[in-house]
Amino acid sequence: MTAAPQPDGQAAVVCAIGAALPPRTVSNADLTARLDTTDEWIRSRTGITRRHVAGADLSTTDLVVRAAAQALAGGEPAPVQALVVATTTPDQCCPATAPAVATRLGLTGIPAFDIAAGCTGFLYGLATAAGLIAAGTARTVLVIGADRLAALPDPGDRATVPLFGDGAGAVVLRCGSADEAGALRPVVLGSDGSGADLIRASRPGALHMDGADVFRHAVDRMSTASRQAATAAGWDLTEVDRLAPHQANSRITSFVARQLGIPDGRRLGNIAEVGNTGAASIPLLLAQTAAEGRLEPGHRTLLTAFGAGLTWGAVTLIWPDLSPARLPEGAGHDR
Ligand code: UT7
Repeated sequence: MTAAPQPDGQAAVVCAIGAALPPRTVSNADLTARLDTTDEWIRSRTGITRRHVAGADLSTTDLVVRAAAQALAGGEPAPVQALVVATTTPDQCCPATAPAVATRLGLTGIPAFDIAAGCTGFLYGLATAAGLIAAGTARTVLVIGADRLAALPDPGDRATVPLFGDGAGAVVLRCGSADEAGALRPVVLGSDGSGADLIRASRPGALHMDGADVFRHAVDRMSTASRQAATAAGWDLTEVDRLAPHQANSRITSFVARQLGIPDGRRLGNIAEVGNTGAASIPLLLAQTAAEGRLEPGHRTLLTAFGAGLTWGAVTLIWPDLSPARLPEGAGHDR
């Protein structure tokens, strides 16, 4: 499904970004000490060499606040008028994460709520923010994708433990015009509940994933959604300068790029350092690659994601000129 364009040339425009990663890292070597696996298997099958893992002293809410605060530190002078948190690993079922985050940021009173759409959650969050802006509810919206996925697998399951890490990424969207850099083009979203059993977790430590089936769906859905998003933006795929795909497996993102005919040098990746961080994946990737200069102002950028639900999505934008002060240092490590 593709959302209708906003009226009068209005658009939701990305104007700041932030990221947060737990300081502790777990390397493949750390995992081989306690699981029947090898560094070679993990790197060659997934592209991952290490992941950041939060200790008991760093909650999902804490990660959200850190990423949000970093985005706001270099953000627009306009006050944030709504806050959306995308996560499938909140600290508790009830209440939602977002109101507590808003209060910790000094934003008590604004609309604040969570959405759960697996690893596609950040793109659902962008669409929701664009809707809030189009509806006149808010002129500036903070969207944070955050997950603590490292706690989901059974600690003895070699098939899933190596894949996941923890983190958060945030963007500020403001009401602007459709023809400026940073303006979101129509957001493509979809879901298929008949695939719900392919990735499910009833509680932390009880993740089930049918890896090979999920792999196939991920490639198909991200490729199709990407084509739809490019078409909705009026772009030819050959014009895409940067593909920013959800970081689930570097082989998945490589297949997606190949199916779209996007040269591998235009495919952004940071999975080696962070693993699969769920709803945090895309904003972390954007923050890190923008800070490193791999993603530059003016790049025609295509974001796409796939996750539990099943859910998927894609959107395009021309990457805006965020001043260096607005970019997190390095990979968004805590400062
Ligand atoms: O965020 C969105 C949701 N997640 C994803 O998109 C993940 C999608 N799936 C994947 O990334 C891949 O399917 C995995 C990385 C999970 C698995 O890679 P695969 O190439 O599909 O491997 P497989 O599951 O088919 O397993 C191949 C072999 C099996 O052994 P046998 O049966 O061939 O003897 C597994 O037991 O690899 C074995 N294996 C491992 N061996 C060493 C599975 N995990 C490991 C491991 N170390 N960590």
